[in-house]
Amino acid sequence: MTMADAGTFDARAAQWQEWWSSLADPARHVLLSLAKVGPGTRLLDVGCGSGELAAMAADLGADVSGVDASDNMVLIAGNTVPRADIRQGSSERLPWPDDSFDVVTAVNSFQFSDDVTVPVTEAVRVLAPGGVLAVCNWAEREHQQVREVDDAVAGLGPERAGPSVRDPDVRSAGVLEELLEGAGLRVTAAGEVPVPYELADERELLQAFAFELPDVLPEHVTDQLVATTVERAAAPYRLDDGSYRFENIFRYVLATAPRRAAGRGAAGRA
Ligand SMILES: C[S@@+](CC[C@H](N)C(=O)[O-])C[C@H]1O[C@@H](n2cnc3c(N)ncnc32)[C@H](O)[C@@H]1O
Repeated sequence: MTMADAGTFDARAAQWQEWWSSLADPARHVLLSLAKVGPGTRLLDVGCGSGELAAMAADLGADVSGVDASDNMVLIAGNTVPRADIRQGSSERLPWPDDSFDVVTAVNSFQFSDDVTVPVTEAVRVLAPGGVLAVCNWAEREHQQVREVDDAVAGLGPERAGPSVRDPDVRSAGVLEELLEGAGLRVTAAGEVPVPYELADERELLQAFAFELPDVLPEHVTDQLVATTVERAAAPYRLDDGSYRFENIFRYVLATAPRRAAGRGAAGRA
């Protein structure tokens, strides 16, 4: 989702898994394919959520690890992919030693850091020389149709806080590339992936977007008002059969860590 903060993911981890965890599937397939993940690849998924990318990588034969700040997400991810080493921890201080992985992935997780260069630097630290960092996140607001409904729901709260935009804004074209190049990596692929979001009917619509409901609602916000607000915001995306379809785009970048010069140790890494 787009607006939630890290605490929301912990409090609503099961709801996330049920309604939002599959949205990134098209992007996950692209990353795993471009990173050539296969049997024996040592892969770490940072901000692994409920473990969907980890499960796909495990199915490809990879030796999978995952980390998430949320205890509840870690529990769920452990069930999703029991073979993986899933740990609770921060993207800003990964609980693994240097040079541990061939591939590090991060799908919509780095943007939760105040300074996005910190999780990028950590990812590079745990990447083996020649390894691949694959980062993916939402594109700009105008490419997120679900955002129309998110904003309407979030606006039911006592204060209408503006969306927090970090600097640099990783959603903008070219920013991920600059970040990874700035961390000493060589960009090998970049692009956009459509991630449409489909809901069968109004019941699903209301349940899915309840994820964004503020924790505390003013007294006048009844269930009926919530339903009307969601349905009104989603009306442009309602299809003739009563289902809903929202078009969205993710951006991704893959970049390679430098290979260590012959005869030099870890200290010689760029
Ligand atoms: C939008 S979800 C994405 C989950 C998963 N990567 C996916 O694509 O489905 C964001 C995840 O990042 C986690 N997260 C947020 N801040 C984090 C941090 N500093 N370190 C590790 N995980 C974090 C949240 O707990 C949540 O599970």
